[in-house]
Amino acid sequence: MKVSLTFFFILYFLSKLQLTGSDSLLKVIGMADVVFSDADFERFRNLIYKESGINFTSTNRSILESRLKEQLRETGLATIQAYYDVITKDKEAFKKFLDSITTNLTRFFRNQAHFDALEHYVIPEVLKNKKASGNTLVKIWSAGCSTGEEPYTIAMLLSEILPPPYKYEITASDISLKSLMVGKEGFYADARIVGVPDNYLKKYFDKVEGGYKIHDDIKSRIKFDYHNLQNDSGLRGLDIVFCRNVLIYFDDVSMTAAVNRFYDSMASKSYFFIGHSESLFGMDTKFEFLKTQWATLYRKYI
Ligand SMILES: C[S@@+](CC[C@H](N)C(=O)[O-])C[C@H]1O[C@@H](n2cnc3c(N)ncnc32)[C@H](O)[C@@H]1O
Repeated sequence: MKVSLTFFFILYFLSKLQLTGSDSLLKVIGMADVVFSDADFERFRNLIYKESGINFTSTNRSILESRLKEQLRETGLATIQAYYDVITKDKEAFKKFLDSITTNLTRFFRNQAHFDALEHYVIPEVLKNKKASGNTLVKIWSAGCSTGEEPYTIAMLLSEILPPPYKYEITASDISLKSLMVGKEGFYADARIVGVPDNYLKKYFDKVEGGYKIHDDIKSRIKFDYHNLQNDSGLRGLDIVFCRNVLIYFDDVSMTAAVNRFYDSMASKSYFFIGHSESLFGMDTKFEFLKTQWATLYRKYI
């Protein structure tokens, strides 16, 4: 009896394997056999660096390896070399690959001190200059905006504090197409809304099933765009630039080049926010370090 029961369970298990996703199981097992050699690592890290400025070091080699194996699983390709051949020939496949290796962690009102400095120091200073020049448009760029929480936070805050006749426009850019689509959609699941003050939630979002949707009038102030920070954006005369928690993935050379491009895209007497764990210390840049009561940031004076 015992033997036949065991036999029955073995048969049952085998039939389940066949009926439910044995393919993907085999693929998972197969991935263990995929070779990611030192030479592959060098080839991929050079390609990623050249195209995006993102610097994979040997400490995060395993992250790259697991993301590559995920891509093999998705595309059905059998070797790392075959995948390399595809992404170096097909631009869209390469964009998808870059998307898969970026870290898109973000949240609304991330590092509140920056938004306090924006409200109490930067905006009053920018408006002083605008008044002198008669220009009423405040131009902002959220570079490396991920899924949109950063530009929406800026938009909500400026909608609260900018007095008429001043207006604002925000460009929000990233190399992750998936993230940009989330931003454009403007829907955030309940868990992602953490950190949005209640009065903002009531005023700027609609409650929908499973989450919240940002109002169209806020959405219309933000232009989401694909842009790789390795290139010039073509933007000019910006009053405020946020590029937080992006440069951390670059090495010194690509970081300096990106920072100098930001400088060129900004108006005189404009302000530059980077992540609170990032710094331009020791870098060859014309930005001035600025310490406010709320947070530290950078200024282009001339
Ligand atoms: C950790 S998120 C930061 C999001 C937001 N700025 C914040 O601080 O919450 C970093 C973002 O930078 C983007 N990124 C990385 N390299 C980039 C590049 N070369 N050009 C444009 N965006 C890049 C990633 O796709 C990712 O969405």
